[in-house]
Amino acid sequence: MYRGRLSAPDDFEGWREVARAFALAGVDPADIMWTAGPDESDLFATDLPPPPPSGSGGFSVPRPFLNLAESAILHRDPERFALLYALLLRVRERPGRLEDKADPLLRRVEMLASAVRRDIHKMRAFVRFRELEDETGPRYVAWFEPDHHIVRVNASFFMRRFASMHWSILTPELSIHWDGETLTEGPGASAQDAPADDPVEQIWKSYYASIFNPARLKIGAMLSEMPRKYWRNLPEAALIPELVAGAQAREAAMIAAPAKPPARPSNATATWAALREEAMGCTRCPLYRDTTQTVFGEGPIDAPLLFIGEQPGDQEDLAGRPFVGPAGQLFDRALEEAGIDRRQTYVTNAVKHFKHERRGKRRIHQTPETPEIQACRWWLTQELDLLQPRIIVALGATAARSLLGKTVTIGRTRGTPIALESGAQGWVTVHPSFLLRMPDEARKAKERQRFVSELKEIGERMRNLA
Ligand code: URA
Repeated sequence: MYRGRLSAPDDFEGWREVARAFALAGVDPADIMWTAGPDESDLFATDLPPPPPSGSGGFSVPRPFLNLAESAILHRDPERFALLYALLLRVRERPGRLEDKADPLLRRVEMLASAVRRDIHKMRAFVRFRELEDETGPRYVAWFEPDHHIVRVNASFFMRRFASMHWSILTPELSIHWDGETLTEGPGASAQDAPADDPVEQIWKSYYASIFNPARLKIGAMLSEMPRKYWRNLPEAALIPELVAGAQAREAAMIAAPAKPPARPSNATATWAALREEAMGCTRCPLYRDTTQTVFGEGPIDAPLLFIGEQPGDQEDLAGRPFVGPAGQLFDRALEEAGIDRRQTYVTNAVKHFKHERRGKRRIHQTPETPEIQACRWWLTQELDLLQPRIIVALGATAARSLLGKTVTIGRTRGTPIALESGAQGWVTVHPSFLLRMPDEARKAKERQRFVSELKEIGERMRNLA
């Protein structure tokens, strides 16, 4: 029996080193007792020897295994180190094992990783700072109870997002503090250590009330996105019972009233910037792993016309901006011919990470699938709620699916405006890359002309609405 000793419950590098030594020495998973952190209470484990010397040599495992292990190790399940070690031995023997979705061990580890990713996202979405004043000036303190060991991995997200603020995030096991330059760690804390109420709350409350749409009220979905456990930390959650209770009456009034967009929140620009920043750290689906960055939408916050594409391509992924590659250039020319100034429109994508497959040095586009479109709808919905454009144009089938929540045939849907629940006018047309890919030049020219005519009509409607 050996001891696999890690410095902390989230010590991935430590696990990697120790697991490698055990694997090289051919140690069976059942012969290791794993311990993590300074807690030496397990006297039996303390007496056990470390990994035996393995001599020289090494081995490698596929990158996706490391990505999976890096997430799964943060799970609270005490068996995670042993499960990962068992999976490591199998993958080392046969790398293709990672494709075997029916393998119970792989499925269990994937479930751990997915629970961790969800918890990471919850922390990013539900941490709410309260303002305090100390001798150095304002300081923002938040209380959060994660399910897993995710606080350290999430620290860089909060450092980027709140770079110039002095803040502390208190959790039961660990506290992290940022003074604008350095991140420090402290011991765990309790909810009473964080202030309960402050003026910042009013901003959250008015933002939440302004984006609450009674027609979209789905309690089940709401609970799954914002479980009750987090409600007590969120100032805006105090509004939920009231908003839910009044939802039916408000929905009836909304149907009866002529469609008109609700007022855009007064802090829309700041909210958009915060939303974009949050999307930069998005891990809602696995696509983020093999991309350069999230490509968020761009354009004026009060743009009356919004275009939705499918997903960034190779060039967009590198530039961090939507529609700048070949499809974007075709789109720009078509807009110009239709008399629409792209700078006055907002351009975004249904999926905000580049889905692709590597072939040698090339990255080949792959169409996003339902789970990815669904996961990314979280961001699109917030962009639409915030910008409240008068006209929304879906370019291609993926965008249409995301906008309308169902699969539609472009041929049957294009050319006629659709009344959207938000009061905006929806349009569906082809994606510019459909035109790019057409081999027959004559057909291509005809289709391109049709695309430009549709854009012209949309431009005219926009001017009329204005
Ligand atoms: N295709 C899209 O759908 N979006 C982009 O941003 C680029 C190409």
